[in-house]
Amino acid sequence: MARIGLLVLTKPTKLERILPAINQHVNSTLYVQLYPGRRRLQSLPSSSETVLNVQHHGPAVISIYSQATAVCHNLDVRVLLAGIKDPFISTIQTRKQIEVVIFDCLFHKDEVDNFLKSCLLNATQTCHVVTLNHPPHGNNVVSGMAESFSIDGILPNKEFKMYENVVVGGTFDRLHTGHKILLSEAVLRCTRKLTVGVTDTSMLKYKLLWELIEPCSDRMCLLEDFLQDIDPGLQYDIVPIYDPLGPTREDPNFQMIVVSTETYKGGLKVNECRCQNNLPILDIHTVDILEAVSERTCDEEEDKISSSNNRMRLLGTRLRVPEARPLLSRKPYVIGLTGNIASGKSSVGEHLRNLGAGLLNCDILAHGVYTKGQTCYESIVQHFGKEILDDDEEINRKALGAIVFKNKEQLDKLNGLVWPVLLDRVKGQIKALFEAGHQIVVMEAAVLLQAGWDKHVHEIWACIIPPEEAVKRLQERNNLTESDARARIAALPSNTELVAKAHVVVSTYWSATYTQKQVAKAWKALQLYLTDNAKL
Ligand SMILES: *[C@@H]1O[C@H](CO)[C@@H](O)[C@H](O)[C@H]1NC(C)=O
Ligand SMILES: *[C@@H]1O[C@H](CO)[C@@H](O)[C@H](O)[C@H]1NC(C)=O
Ligand SMILES: *[C@@H]1O[C@H](CO)[C@@H](O)[C@H](O)[C@H]1NC(C)=O
Repeated sequence: MARIGLLVLTKPTKLERILPAINQHVNSTLYVQLYPGRRRLQSLPSSSETVLNVQHHGPAVISIYSQATAVCHNLDVRVLLAGIKDPFISTIQTRKQIEVVIFDCLFHKDEVDNFLKSCLLNATQTCHVVTLNHPPHGNNVVSGMAESFSIDGILPNKEFKMYENVVVGGTFDRLHTGHKILLSEAVLRCTRKLTVGVTDTSMLKYKLLWELIEPCSDRMCLLEDFLQDIDPGLQYDIVPIYDPLGPTREDPNFQMIVVSTETYKGGLKVNECRCQNNLPILDIHTVDILEAVSERTCDEEEDKISSSNNRMRLLGTRLRVPEARPLLSRKPYVIGLTGNIASGKSSVGEHLRNLGAGLLNCDILAHGVYTKGQTCYESIVQHFGKEILDDDEEINRKALGAIVFKNKEQLDKLNGLVWPVLLDRVKGQIKALFEAGHQIVVMEAAVLLQAGWDKHVHEIWACIIPPEEAVKRLQERNNLTESDARARIAALPSNTELVAKAHVVVSTYWSATYTQKQVAKAWKALQLYLTDNAKL
């Protein structure tokens, strides 16, 4: 298995048949170089102009993305465009080192050797070759059809134009197929400079689940990386934008803007504004992304493409690969479930228990360590005084809470007394749940991050709801004043801090059914991850 592969595609219409096999050879990034209809690797390309070439092969690019999304879910697919825009370029320059080259038809060994030596500018020393030749021999009737993307297949379209200066905008959060298609459409039509406006997080704060959006600087870096990869020949100006118009408001050089069907109105706004500012009107190129990808994808994938629920689609998915935990026993597999007060952690924990996880609740376990006669009882009473005791000499949690939630020093003191004792108990319970047959144990703890317990779990699942909703729920549940509720919520990590650490994020903001659906999705993905991991 290689991480980075290059597919040399001579028969785009046969892609669907070879994609499943590609999963067996590449597991991270798949570059695709289109050589439609080529019989020989070194044969001179047809001498068509750039415009014709792009016009003819552009549709294949979209089709490759949509097919690959449907079959190779885990691969970062990147269709290389430099060779389409300039058919005379014979070298392939990628940002990542290519470890395997996959051909969709058989080429002569000398040609392949020469290709590896002189065309691939960034390949490993040990780069190897795979040929997926379906069907293995003969049956050339089909391959005749396979070249329908080549020059003869499509009539020139007079409308098609290329521009020196193109602009495109968006949030571009966690680049997905829809983004890649939009960007490719912009790159294909651009000959000099592509400006990309990236929505700054400050513009998104009023949006639901904005915490899930990656920081603007991260998104800009990933965009640069993707764009340099698919066409290193253009100049890229990637800028944060603080309002929907961004640089289109004043840059006189822009000629064309690429929008999706969903953002078409934004394109019209841009032109309205440019008109007022006496700037040239932009041509608008509209890409119907949903149309482009919906044909071959399943319902779930369609979810992933739609930008209106762009962030909801992230709920219950694996956002990042868990860090290695060499010091932690491999079994049971421990999920740290955390989230602010009133975020609905417990309902998520319950769903997980129903799915077969062992569940332990640290917050409940914590009450146990300071009942009368237990380890922490004496030390707490000694520090906080007898005023916190009930008539029956038990610690009154409400009285204790009233002290510590208003005074950080006192809270730290209490935590210092309770956490070490609690952690020992937690470890004991995890062991007991494993012995009772649970391969996966969920450790529910509001203080997971603050207590530094993240190093005692294999991965973190965070439950988030909008802060205002949390205040409302907590006030109702615990009969607190608004300011007390806010103080308690502020004492725990914010949604942004949780998302930064979490491998999976769920939200109980909507219906119980929707929460359950997210948990089921995350559970399924975890099973897949664990199965894959066991194979290593
Ligand atoms: C991909 O395969 C390589 C080599 O087998 C392995 O080291 C790596 O962890 C795999 N990566 C993923 C994301 O599965
Ligand atoms: C080639 O790939 C390596 C590692 O993947 C990368 O660090 C390097 O920048 C690439 N070289 C070029 C010229 O892009
Ligand atoms: C809620 O708190 C208020 C003020 O502390 C108190 O008067 C009231 O009885 C409480 N209600 C419940 C249901 O506990």
